[in-house]
Amino acid sequence: MIGKIIGTRMIDTIEKLREEISRHAIDSQEALEEFRLRFLSKKQGEITALLKKIPTVAKEARREVGQQINELKRLAEERLEQARKQIHEGSGALAEIDLTLPGRPHPSGSIHPLTRTRYDIQRVFERMGFVVEEGPEIEDEWHNFTALNFPPDHPARDMQDTLFVEPSENGDDGVLLRTHTSPVQIRVMEQQKPPIRVIVPGRVYRNEALSFKSYCLFHQVEGLVVAEGITFGDLKHDLHVFAKAIFHEDVRMRFRPSFFPFTEPSAEVDIWWEDETLEGGGRWLEILGSGMVDPNVLEAVGIDSEKYTGYAFGMGIERIALIRYNIPDIRLFYENDFRFLDQF
Ligand code: DAH
Repeated sequence: MIGKIIGTRMIDTIEKLREEISRHAIDSQEALEEFRLRFLSKKQGEITALLKKIPTVAKEARREVGQQINELKRLAEERLEQARKQIHEGSGALAEIDLTLPGRPHPSGSIHPLTRTRYDIQRVFERMGFVVEEGPEIEDEWHNFTALNFPPDHPARDMQDTLFVEPSENGDDGVLLRTHTSPVQIRVMEQQKPPIRVIVPGRVYRNEALSFKSYCLFHQVEGLVVAEGITFGDLKHDLHVFAKAIFHEDVRMRFRPSFFPFTEPSAEVDIWWEDETLEGGGRWLEILGSGMVDPNVLEAVGIDSEKYTGYAFGMGIERIALIRYNIPDIRLFYENDFRFLDQF
């Protein structure tokens, strides 16, 4: 009877201790040591004290009480081990980070000079109300040549030799890598009614002998305006605004008579490039081709050429970038050499 009572009292004590051990916060080296001393110390620990009391427990309850104390001990040991790990791992992770080391550099890319030049050109025209349009790089012969008033066998086609994806049977039905962005003029006029005011950036291809000034692919920006009453004066004004924005405010430009099948009259535009090392203090550099849209082109897409007139221009983005950044060789744009690209 008495033994039973003692056993029950022991079990209550064990229960209380179990709760305390489970809840005890151990968050520092000191708390760890305090916990160890209080529960697990062989000399004064509370579990040792319980073990010492086992002989006072009634015989029938001894086994049970002994087992429970052992479990309690295991629980305390586990808590201690777990807390020790946590504390060490925490400080261990900190120790691995050396805050005095220099950071790892993340090389940040930059916009390619051709892309930048394209954006700059686009922005100038967008401010004047132009809308950006695009067209396919694989084009049919009709859009690339015939509709632009290059008849089959016309020698002007020879100036723009390219790769054919499908051969041409009759000078009209081949499929090719477009040689200029001008076919997009046709595509836009097939889909939109005047007034039209578009700018068309894009990649074009030519079968060229590679050199410092020619490559088998390059980029152009086409411009097209079609509305009632458009004159050569509008062309001159808009291109002047463009040249001032891209080069400098008092840029000098000139229109030089030229020939393109799809414009009449046609002109090439040059800007004056100052260079003291040259005789005359500089030279004229050609930057684009332009002209009034030929009535034949308007009629080919069903626009009444008696009612509407238009102007068009086309420029090479590479050429503008070469001039702006004073780059000596067009091939540098395509080699992806960081020593070149890093400079922009
Ligand atoms: N497409 C011509 C070329 O690649 C450039 C050009 C000239 C475009 C006159 C035009 C233009 O729109 O009016 O050589």
